[in-house]
Amino acid sequence: MAAAGSAIGLGSLWRFPYIAGDNGGGAFVLLYIIFTYVLGVPIFIGELLIGRKTQRSPIFAYQELSKQSTNWKMVGYLNVLTSFIVLSFYCVVSGWCLNYALMSLNQFTLGKTPGQIRAIFDTVYTSADLNLFWMGIYILMNVGVVYSGIRKGIEHWSKILTPALFFILIGMFIYGLTMPGFTQAAKFIFSPTFSKLTPSAILNALGMAFFTLSVGLGIIVTYGSYLKPSENMPRTAFIVATMTILVSLMAAMMIFPIVFTFNFPPEGGPGLVFKTMPILFAKLPGSLVISTVFFLLFVFTALTSSISLLEVVVANLMELFSWNRSKAVIISAIGAFIFAVPSALAGSKALFPSWETIYGKDFFDTMNYITASWMMPIAGLLTTLFIGYVMEKQTTREEFLKGTTMGYLFRPWFFTIRYLAPLVVIIIILEQAGVLNLAPLFNLMRSA
Ligand code: PHE
Repeated sequence: MAAAGSAIGLGSLWRFPYIAGDNGGGAFVLLYIIFTYVLGVPIFIGELLIGRKTQRSPIFAYQELSKQSTNWKMVGYLNVLTSFIVLSFYCVVSGWCLNYALMSLNQFTLGKTPGQIRAIFDTVYTSADLNLFWMGIYILMNVGVVYSGIRKGIEHWSKILTPALFFILIGMFIYGLTMPGFTQAAKFIFSPTFSKLTPSAILNALGMAFFTLSVGLGIIVTYGSYLKPSENMPRTAFIVATMTILVSLMAAMMIFPIVFTFNFPPEGGPGLVFKTMPILFAKLPGSLVISTVFFLLFVFTALTSSISLLEVVVANLMELFSWNRSKAVIISAIGAFIFAVPSALAGSKALFPSWETIYGKDFFDTMNYITASWMMPIAGLLTTLFIGYVMEKQTTREEFLKGTTMGYLFRPWFFTIRYLAPLVVIIIILEQAGVLNLAPLFNLMRSA
């Protein structure tokens, strides 16, 4: 449940719909699903296995299993760095959710046209003070949870609130069915047009699969270290992946009917969910309650993910410098706040005003893109190489077989980890880098 809590979060609800929109829909969505099952799930199992075997945080887990090689320790460091950066922009987005929850209480949509409601997001995004304020509040919430040990409480609540979120999502989805834009939305999400697929869309789909599953950050290694040997790892991985995909698809299917009904462009950018959902809420009876509850649940699911991000940083710092828990939490939180400042100020351009001119994306988006589309796939690749070529196969097999009745999965899993996954990830990276060109292949698929 905790792993599902970490996996299901803003990645599915906020990030997936808008990246799918930016990358042309159907073909991207299909690739995302394939990558989740074919690459994400095996790596998820691999990370669990490393954690359960060593019972340690990532940096030390890699070191221990590679017979003290300091090179492999670097993967652990990469994990910590990535978690830290993800945490920083995650807090900014969660801050928007808090902001929207409060705005909903004030019935901010009253008397506004869909176009006006949509435009509010830009005001939010470009307000330096609001972004800083809510991001800071959100970091304090994380500190509160991780510090005070009410983590158990959060996990208890997530058993109630995650189904509640599912309930709202299904309700919104059903309402979406009645909207004129529904057919067009279903077509956009489910009918793949491979001609629209660009190399960067392929890399983004890979990164999205890793991001929503939380692999490539050492988080699952940490969770694995809490697992009992009797726990069935392949089954856990499969369930988490399926739940995550379902939430992602439902999120897209509640957002895109609105997009097409009101003729908005599908490329809504990072504000997509905030620009669309309030329009729907405004039409519903009891919109104040539904809208507020929706954004609060959003914050809650974000929280179950971000505490896991904070936890990786904290756990590693504690082991690295022998700090006690409170010191590690406070220092990580201050670090995360400082690093989140440029992301929070990205819209207002109060800091690094020429960032976008130089890098083509604002600071927030640069961090968002670099971590998900580059750092997580590269860390995932290194994890597969580590399990496939560095760990002893015998150890791996024994650990894999513990707690599962699906022993026959070991061979195909190991094959994927050793050959298939590294090959696919390397090809995708080379293609994005322009070294390889797969376009003719897609043309072939199209004409077939
Ligand atoms: N998987 C989470 C989500 O979808 C994000 C996340 C990534 C959380 C990595 C932890 C680690 O929102």
